[in-house]
Amino acid sequence: MLFPEYRPRRMRRTEALRRMIRETVLTPNDLILPLFAVHGKGVKNPIDSMPGQFQLSIEYIAEMAKEAYKLGIPAVMLFGVPKTKNALGTEAYAKDGIVQTAIRAVKNKVPEMVVITDVCMCQYTDHGHCGILEKTEVNNDATIEILANIAVSHAKSGSDMVAPSDMMDGRVGEIREALDDNSYYNIPIMSYAVKYCSAFYGPFRQAAHSAPKAGDRKSYQMDPANILEAVREASMDVEEGADIIMVKPALSYLDVISKIRDEVDLPVAAYNVSGEYAMIKAAEKLGWVDGAKITMEILTSIKRAGADMILSYSAMEAAKMMA
Ligand code: PBG
Repeated sequence: MLFPEYRPRRMRRTEALRRMIRETVLTPNDLILPLFAVHGKGVKNPIDSMPGQFQLSIEYIAEMAKEAYKLGIPAVMLFGVPKTKNALGTEAYAKDGIVQTAIRAVKNKVPEMVVITDVCMCQYTDHGHCGILEKTEVNNDATIEILANIAVSHAKSGSDMVAPSDMMDGRVGEIREALDDNSYYNIPIMSYAVKYCSAFYGPFRQAAHSAPKAGDRKSYQMDPANILEAVREASMDVEEGADIIMVKPALSYLDVISKIRDEVDLPVAAYNVSGEYAMIKAAEKLGWVDGAKITMEILTSIKRAGADMILSYSAMEAAKMMA
């Protein structure tokens, strides 16, 4: 079909025609809201690098979760900012740890909400690495045992799904086994399977106080230049028992999302990370872009690339726009 017989503009003439042929439709069901829990009462600390986002004490976390659920968002992802840190990150699996407390608060207030918990050590270690440090190296096999403890402690506190974000080898299998040994057969694992070593995490590290004190994460997070390796990482996690495969970040990795969508038959999640959010907010503040429109365009593009669900700091804003 060639011009003038075929005219693509025919089907773009009116809003109703455009709606009829729209291929990707974003809904609040697609969104997961990340939240940062801190100790204390009545705490609502704005995060400078992420305008509109806060470190919240647990009563506010529960309230925010309730509001999100009312807007149609089915899940939250909880991160904790602990009071104390040490070399082994023991606060990450403390019974009264910040995430454990936040899980109970959310489940109490909105039992229907899916509570997903980030399983990692970097917020809890004094050196800021995602595992146990030996000199300058993170010890893989010692770390995955601790990650399994963290996952079980989250499940014990009522978490509905655990999401390991450390990028150690073999952690999905180790966590699956530990959950099963403790009879948590029904707790799924959302694996940060394809997580790149990205500068887009900068604002998050300010929010969660989780930047490494020395060195970087290049020996465990992936090289942004690689995509075949993404397929290997995802396939390993599928075999180890992952229930959802995540790609992170999202915006500079739409090709990876699309590739993973083609290669695996599990649901695919994409993490629209802190730096992606911060860039919109900064440009919006300068009056250079329409933040609301850009937000919807970005979220739609991530879904179009193949993501079945999107973790985004814009989740509330976007859900309100869809209401
Ligand atoms: C912890 C973790 C990070 C993010 C999610 N979990 C930071 C990191 O790996 O340094 C980043 C999220 C974001 O930037 O929004 N390992």
